[in-house]
Amino acid sequence: MDTMTYGHFDNQLREYVITNPMTPVRWINYIGTLNFGGFIDHVGGSLLCRGDPALNRITKYIPQLPASSFNGETLYLRTKKKSGYRLYSPYFVPTLDPLEVYECHVGLGYTQIVSEVDGLRTEVTIFVPIGETCALRDIRITNTSNSPLEVDVIPVVEYTHPDALKQFTNADWVPQTMQSEAVEDGTHLILMQYPFMFRENKVNYFTSDAPASSFETDRRIFLGEHEYRTWSNPLSLENPELNNSVALRGDNIAALMHHLGSLKPGESRRMITQLGQAESMAASRHSIERYRNQDNVDNAFKSLADSWETYLSRFQVETPDDDMDTMLNVHNPRQCFTTLNWSRYVSLYQLGLGARGIGFRDSSQDVLGIMVLAPDEGKQLIRQLLHVQKRDGSAMHQYNPLTMVANEGDARHVEDAPKYYSDDHLWIILAITAYLKETGDFSFLDEQIAFYEKDSALAPLESGTVFEHMIRALEFTRNDTGAHGLPRLGFADWNDTVNLRTGAESVFAAQLYGKALLEMIELSQALQDVGPVETYALYHNEMRQKVNEHSWDGEWYLRYFDADGTRLGSKSNTQGQIYTNAQSWSVISGYAPQERACAALEAVFTRLNTRCGIKLSAPGYDGYDPNKGGITTYPPGAKENGGIFLHANPWVIIAETMLGNGDRAYEYYRQMNPVAKNNHIDEFECEPYVYPQNILGDEHPQFGLARNSWLTGTASWAWQAATMYILGIMPTYQGLKLDPCIPHHWDGFNLRRYFRQAWYDIEVRNPEHVCRGIKSIFVDDEPLEGNILPIFRDGQTHRVSVTLGS
Ligand code: GLC
Repeated sequence: MDTMTYGHFDNQLREYVITNPMTPVRWINYIGTLNFGGFIDHVGGSLLCRGDPALNRITKYIPQLPASSFNGETLYLRTKKKSGYRLYSPYFVPTLDPLEVYECHVGLGYTQIVSEVDGLRTEVTIFVPIGETCALRDIRITNTSNSPLEVDVIPVVEYTHPDALKQFTNADWVPQTMQSEAVEDGTHLILMQYPFMFRENKVNYFTSDAPASSFETDRRIFLGEHEYRTWSNPLSLENPELNNSVALRGDNIAALMHHLGSLKPGESRRMITQLGQAESMAASRHSIERYRNQDNVDNAFKSLADSWETYLSRFQVETPDDDMDTMLNVHNPRQCFTTLNWSRYVSLYQLGLGARGIGFRDSSQDVLGIMVLAPDEGKQLIRQLLHVQKRDGSAMHQYNPLTMVANEGDARHVEDAPKYYSDDHLWIILAITAYLKETGDFSFLDEQIAFYEKDSALAPLESGTVFEHMIRALEFTRNDTGAHGLPRLGFADWNDTVNLRTGAESVFAAQLYGKALLEMIELSQALQDVGPVETYALYHNEMRQKVNEHSWDGEWYLRYFDADGTRLGSKSNTQGQIYTNAQSWSVISGYAPQERACAALEAVFTRLNTRCGIKLSAPGYDGYDPNKGGITTYPPGAKENGGIFLHANPWVIIAETMLGNGDRAYEYYRQMNPVAKNNHIDEFECEPYVYPQNILGDEHPQFGLARNSWLTGTASWAWQAATMYILGIMPTYQGLKLDPCIPHHWDGFNLRRYFRQAWYDIEVRNPEHVCRGIKSIFVDDEPLEGNILPIFRDGQTHRVSVTLGS
């Protein structure tokens, strides 16, 4: 095992610090929110948008380009020497000069790149002030050499057409419409940019707080494309001034020339650039003025830090596992906040194009990951999601956040395929009940929300209460069953890539339905609504019997029945014999009798577990089969086809804790923790500070290689598995339930959590070294009956001491 590292965690500053710019793939961080923001890569490139990366994208970022390529934004520094100019990028890309110091601080809502080259130290902090529609780059340059240095600073942005798909598909229309303008503003310059059709209502602007002497808006001229120059040696930077050309078409950029003059040894200068979007040039003035004042920049940065402090302080832990603490205290909640914002919309791997938008199932699960920290944001997203639920109870698969127009996901491209997914609508029940348990805000159930009509001009919108939406979701599944009485698969269930013939059935959908029913039973009990309690218990019982009657395969649960009754995920199959989800969810659904539950999870351990995580299924399908669909487009070991699809790992952890197996649950948690990969990145390749969606499985020659980092349901479920099931702090309607299920070797742990307007300082001790079981609980020195901490709602901190034991 190699020990190549590219950086380290700084838990004091809550950062990951990348110290080698030549990471195996680009590593990113997110700034701002979907309202305005995007990601910044570790070499300063940016993909920014406002409101929607598909329809209102600002910078041109092409993730498929090699890591050495310019993407979206950069910064050039130029020093004047006797021999002529020397040009550097303090971000490494695109000039690729070896840097004497390089640090990329991946912070909470900001990225800071620090570098030193040839006597110049540069620190650039990149962030979006909360609620604003501009990104700031706060640049500090210091002369660290022994002699004076003449320094020029040239920041550059490359724009995309706001319609990101058209940018890549129409190479005549796009350049014909792109236009720039330069506005002199005292000693400052403001460069405006817009597509012709939007110039009355949407302009991008780029400016700085330092005097600029010249500018460029046309990429051809900036680079000297007629000489086939590249971003690493732009022709125009060989001249004292830029060309001041105003692009009336073409590839629009914004570049500003700032002559800082001569910096004495040790002398520093600070300047701020702003890249923003406003409704008009006039409307941009406000923000431009505000962030030309460096105090305002400092205050905005402080507000950002304060908001993260508030967010994270609601849940802090101290366990014997430092890597777990690093994840739970900083990076996992940050990733949960990121998936809440961006769903699966825009990353290095999810390109934010076309009609992908916000996913119904994905976002419903994302909501589960931020409940402690940001329940109001969760509620807001639940509302939007319910708005794309159809009257029949099923849901549209995705929607565009700007237009609220929804679509049926991949199902819409396949003729004759069912136009729904069997799981989408069920996830929202989990999201709603999680919100209610966290907040006690039952009035939300009475809120009216319209159901989605594909063509709302033809049919008037029908509304229903949130509760009605939940009932319809359950009824849809109850009424949509196949030959074995199990839910029909639809186009797919959670596993997007198994697309069977119409009429196929999904064991997983049956199990998710079971979990949703358990939630409805608990909710109805809390509401003291006896009728529904009985009804849903009956539904649960019915489906439990069917699943156990038809889908037990002897040692584990089957995963699907195809339309002709063929079993998938059975020992009778040679490929795709066993699927993880059917096992983990047999426990989560409350369907599996004890003996089967144990056998099913044992089968996961012996047949699916690897040192890098649990595979989604095995063995992989080896060849394309149109009757199975997407899964067979991957080679064995990749993605859903026998890959380690990390999203599904926490479900096994949860199931193990439900059976009391704290050691195994923790072993699975530990093996998927990206922090623990920091020392063998050359195998893993992705950022060690976030969960990736997938890792190649052991059937693949590149076993251990991760991809699709950041935007994955792994974030939310790893958070839930660790906090609610391993550490065992679970919100319920009655109060905060404690039921830790930890590795037996732990002596205990400490945890501080916010719950319903009060703070709980919890100390758990494990003197007998058990995995699970509570001997005593004291709350503010008083013994507690049972394991549910009372709801205090008093703004105070309450001390809780828990002793585990058999
Ligand atoms: C991707 C999709 C998610 C799906 C999963 C498994 O992560 O975003 O919706 O459940 O793949 O196919």
